[in-house]
Amino acid sequence: MRQHVNPLSSNFNKVEIIPSLGEMFSDPKLNLHLDIGCGAGDFLFDLALVNTSWNYLAIEIREKLVKTAKFKAREREIKNLFFLFGNAHNILNDKQSKFFVENVKSISFNFPDPWFKKRHHKRRVIQPELINILSTLLGTGSLIFIKTDVKELFDYMNCIISSNLNFKVLDKKDFNYYESFNPNKIKTNRENNVIVNQLDIFERIYIKI
Ligand SMILES: C[S@@+](CC[C@H](N)C(=O)[O-])C[C@H]1O[C@@H](n2cnc3c(N)ncnc32)[C@H](O)[C@@H]1O
Repeated sequence: MRQHVNPLSSNFNKVEIIPSLGEMFSDPKLNLHLDIGCGAGDFLFDLALVNTSWNYLAIEIREKLVKTAKFKAREREIKNLFFLFGNAHNILNDKQSKFFVENVKSISFNFPDPWFKKRHHKRRVIQPELINILSTLLGTGSLIFIKTDVKELFDYMNCIISSNLNFKVLDKKDFNYYESFNPNKIKTNRENNVIVNQLDIFERIYIKI
């Protein structure tokens, strides 16, 4: 079992300098997808290589993973993928991030850390403040995808997002994946593991109205 990083630690208070979209991507005008808590980023590499009409930005709190992912992206000359190190809350709350969040078309939270103990719920990545920031900055029609194998965490995240009146649940049957950031329904590492272990997956899509 890996050691969890406490996102509330003051180690993450300082946000690194965020490059412009032109510095992150070779074509900054492409649709932008943001993945929060990307782990080693394998999912994003798979997406970026296949879907060259999208840019992918990923945030991860474990610095070593981000360093390795950045190195891999540079080495493979992948120009539609960029990684940011830090606590997603602090990054998205930072004035520097306004420009990219306003450009984001969709955001994924895939299998976030569950932080099972009640006293640790504040460490969960989806919090009302984060959803408020997103509801202020995201454009109308932007999407939020959540996915987890922990029912209690799903209910918690769903309650927070649904309580924000700027987001509405999108019926999966009305959703066209071919036009999304993940047309081939590529799976994350955690998702593959969950499937092998035949666990349930709870997921939902929300649209900014
Ligand atoms: C269970 S892993 C899932 C990784 C990947 N999304 C997947 O589905 O395979 C959750 C990831 O979120 C990261 N994480 C947790 N809290 C975070 C935060 N506040 N900001 C950024 N990353 C965070 C963790 O370090 C970890 O890599």
